[in-house]
Amino acid sequence: MEDLVSLCKRRGFIFQSSEIYGGLQGVYDYGPLGVELKNNLKDAWWSSMIYENDNIEGLDSSILTNPSVLKFSGHESTFTDPMVDCRECKSRWRADTLDSDKCPGCGSTDLTDPRPFNLMFKTSIGPVDDGSNFGYLRPETAQQIFINFKNVLDSTNKSIPFGIAQIGKAFRNEITPRNFIFRVREFEQMELEFFVKPGTDEDWHQKWLDKRLGWWEEQGVNKDKLTIYNVPKEELAHYSKATFDIMYEFPHGSEELEGIANRTDFDLGSHSKNQSEFDISAKVEKNNESNSKLAVHDLEEKKWFIPYVIEPSAGVDRGFLAILNEAYNVEDLGEGKERTLLKLKPHLAPIKAAVIPLKKNNDELVVLSKKIKNELQSLNLGRILFENTGNIGKSYRRHDEIGTPICITVDFDSLEKGTVTIRHRDSMKQELVNIDELVNFVKNFYA
Ligand code: GAP
Repeated sequence: MEDLVSLCKRRGFIFQSSEIYGGLQGVYDYGPLGVELKNNLKDAWWSSMIYENDNIEGLDSSILTNPSVLKFSGHESTFTDPMVDCRECKSRWRADTLDSDKCPGCGSTDLTDPRPFNLMFKTSIGPVDDGSNFGYLRPETAQQIFINFKNVLDSTNKSIPFGIAQIGKAFRNEITPRNFIFRVREFEQMELEFFVKPGTDEDWHQKWLDKRLGWWEEQGVNKDKLTIYNVPKEELAHYSKATFDIMYEFPHGSEELEGIANRTDFDLGSHSKNQSEFDISAKVEKNNESNSKLAVHDLEEKKWFIPYVIEPSAGVDRGFLAILNEAYNVEDLGEGKERTLLKLKPHLAPIKAAVIPLKKNNDELVVLSKKIKNELQSLNLGRILFENTGNIGKSYRRHDEIGTPICITVDFDSLEKGTVTIRHRDSMKQELVNIDELVNFVKNFYA
């Protein structure tokens, strides 16, 4: 983990948030390369959900949430972790993560009894801060999907089975944020709520588990480092009938990368008016209730029913960490030399290609290199970098370390014979390519 954290800082993937003021615990900023890699990861998820499935629609909903939503979803009453205080050093800990009855900070055994601590961030809304006008920062993106169920259904004419997918920030006031970007207070989720007919839910649950495992492999995650944790009944979230957690062997141990839950009709039921019309287990208070019937009409059976929901919910930040961990390699080059490289899948690489003139500030080489950069950039594959360092060896090493799959060197043969040298990150092999064929070469490389 230390190597990853150091690489992230040194090369501009991830920085501690508010660093110049001493930082903000459990909050990170993504730097120039981090934002590219993160966007590429989110794009890969978005394509696999929305562009590859005509029965899945996208959504981008608000972060600020009406408290009633999180009251009826059960989060106000149950979204808690058990917390203990150390009376000796005044530190606070999550009781369920302590290895012994000692304070991990000072070793004292003088700890309070565990008590529930609600993880939601509350904020006042509007100019008068008298405690009555407040909202929450959403603790999961899912609830906004449920409360938009009818809007999406009515505006897209979808029928069951269909899904609504969303990528966005979520906020949890974690008692002990830890392990770099693994457990943080502000993070991003990629969530699909897939609505199915009750009775077909268990098949769909298995189907989504298989699909999601395949997707992580496509992102370069080694399947031998993935395991499935079939969450036991006593550990299930309040809304879940069954959950499969996809666990990944992170540098600090095997932990959850993505959860795939069978949420039954709990959420749509809880947010629906006239509960008694539907056979649902959710019992909610009647005040402040929503005025919607979040149900679909079964034309064959001529009755309304509330769909069941299968929810694959992945953390962007945890995905980022897993992918970085997989890609990070230190290769022994012999004679005491080594090179660090990120073997990222090309579609995830922050920089798709670097165009490097052999000599710094040589006008002819620079003009040709910039022309090549602009041509390749117009392919819209992602970022193509023109790099005028004049030190090819140093540039190659830097691009190995940040995961650039190919470097394109423009030299004097480029001016005389119209060729450039392509240098491959993983094999370090070099090949000559005609400038006339370069666009096709790069297109094919990324096809
Ligand atoms: N809507 C369901 C839900 O939110 P969850 O298991 O609490 O379920 C889903 O969260 C995913 O969000 C997790 O698998 C994890 O990848 C990510 N996640 C949850 N809490 C996180 C945190 N504090 N920091 C980073 N990622 C987190």
